[in-house]
Amino acid sequence: MDRITITRPDDWHIHLRDGEHLVTTVPHVARQFARAIVMPNLKPPVATVDDAIAYRDRILAARPAGSRFRPLLTLYLTDRTTAEEIERAAACPDVVAVKLYPAGATTNSDRGVADLRGLAPVLEVMAQTDLLLLVHGEVTDPEVDVFDREAVFLERELAPILERHPQLHVVLEHITTEQAVAFVRAGGPNLAATITAHHLLLNRNAMFQGGLSPHAYCLPVLKRERHRQALLGAACSGEPKFFLGTDSAPHRRTDKVSDCGCAGIYTAHAAMEFYAEAFDSMGALEYLEGFASQFGPDFYGLPRNRETISLVRRPSPVPASYPLAGSQLVPMRGGETTQWQLVAPG
Ligand code: DOR
Ligand code: ZN
Repeated sequence: MDRITITRPDDWHIHLRDGEHLVTTVPHVARQFARAIVMPNLKPPVATVDDAIAYRDRILAARPAGSRFRPLLTLYLTDRTTAEEIERAAACPDVVAVKLYPAGATTNSDRGVADLRGLAPVLEVMAQTDLLLLVHGEVTDPEVDVFDREAVFLERELAPILERHPQLHVVLEHITTEQAVAFVRAGGPNLAATITAHHLLLNRNAMFQGGLSPHAYCLPVLKRERHRQALLGAACSGEPKFFLGTDSAPHRRTDKVSDCGCAGIYTAHAAMEFYAEAFDSMGALEYLEGFASQFGPDFYGLPRNRETISLVRRPSPVPASYPLAGSQLVPMRGGETTQWQLVAPG
């Protein structure tokens, strides 16, 4: 198969940032996707419906002329989030989910949740109002090895949440391990997971290939090959519990290449090209449409898109960098080529 036409996909997990960053990130996401779930880990975080609406408008203002790209917003869960704010969010069609960052787990998560049990009433309102909980699934316990933080989170934190709130719809974001794949498969129909393109294409060797590469550092950190194979198996299985979420995360080059480099891999410039390559490597291109365009909206209770895109097997160069807020952004595969090229509309 050298050309594939599918329903236009959506990205169920992306970081667009704010201000000048939007000039770079919004045209990239709008070229690929009809809708995207935009993460709220800004400084300060998107913690109220008013914050979310104002952020939505800044994103809309950065769309290229003629684009119908629609951002879907999320609220950043803090220890002070109230049930009233959740009710307001549930009544707002632009806010579709609430994001749980364990405090200290990743970029701009310092205002995240320290005491999950204290938030039981808030999660109960979410369950009743069909607002989804999106979970960064890593423990922050410094005693736990960084490569084990996702697996430990499943039993220590996620299982109790699901037990206490059996009606809550939960997306375990950017899964990276065979344990997460098994956990999601074993869970009820209210539990699903997103998978990034970089976790499908790279294993942890990428961080050390020819020297230390900050551009291959993300969280959850890349894992060993066995786990990448489990993710490919899940994504290409046709199981509706696994769907697309890029976790594309832009950082200025100067913030990545630094004494304390930021976590994040940027894929928004060529996300579907990367996913096509991953599915093609498994001989599973016929499963790409379900993963990219159908299972996400079905799980969120939103309509599937109507237009199409096509992907063509054709090498396509990736710039070494893009301008980003007065610095540069080094994208995945920067200075190299993708194996596929997106042509839109299909
Ligand atoms: O690699 C990551 N980057 N993982 C996250 O969880 C956050 C993200 C970011 O915001 O940069
Ligand atoms: Zn993320």
